[in-house]
Amino acid sequence: MPTLKILDKEFVPYLNEKEIQEKITELAHQINKDYAGKKPIFLSILNGSFLFTADLFKQITIEAEVCFIKLASYKGMTSSGNVITAIGLEANVSNRHIVILEDIIDTGKTLHHYLPQLVSNGPASVKIAVLLNKKEALQFPVQVDYSCFDIPNKFVVGYGLDYDGLGRNSKDIYQLK
Ligand code: IMP
Ligand code: MG
Repeated sequence: MPTLKILDKEFVPYLNEKEIQEKITELAHQINKDYAGKKPIFLSILNGSFLFTADLFKQITIEAEVCFIKLASYKGMTSSGNVITAIGLEANVSNRHIVILEDIIDTGKTLHHYLPQLVSNGPASVKIAVLLNKKEALQFPVQVDYSCFDIPNKFVVGYGLDYDGLGRNSKDIYQLK
């Protein structure tokens, strides 16, 4: 894979399509087992999680629903001060098992702020599944239940993740050079 140039930044190959898809398949198998008979709702956090959600959901073979919300706290390469709900929750989550799908946990701020809101709607359970977990960057306590990759505290793009809106359409994930 050649390097990827987006605006002023250069990125180098980090995780390829095959590795990503293999981990997502493993995760789907695990969730199929853990949630059999529970009819979970997958709650996908836009924008970054749309590809992860699509590829995972295609491999869910148990009865399940999917829905989307949009939370944002990122501008460029740093987290902005506050978390906003740009598109809210339509599904009725009361007494339902919820699996949140996030592209990446960085500081943890987004989910740390959102979780109490979700819990106030009375779900039966809430678990968090992430594609990428930047463990060293965590500043706000968030319990990650399923993680495909633990990654170092470096900015990444591709497979749904962006730098200033760009780079989401790469099948592979790149790391800032
Ligand atoms: P947190 O609130 O700091 O955990 O950040 C979570 C959100 O920030 C993620 O859902 C991403 O949309 C974005 N984000 C965090 N790290 C990166 C990165 O390395 N590349 C692209 N987006 C990122
Ligand atoms: Mg995101």
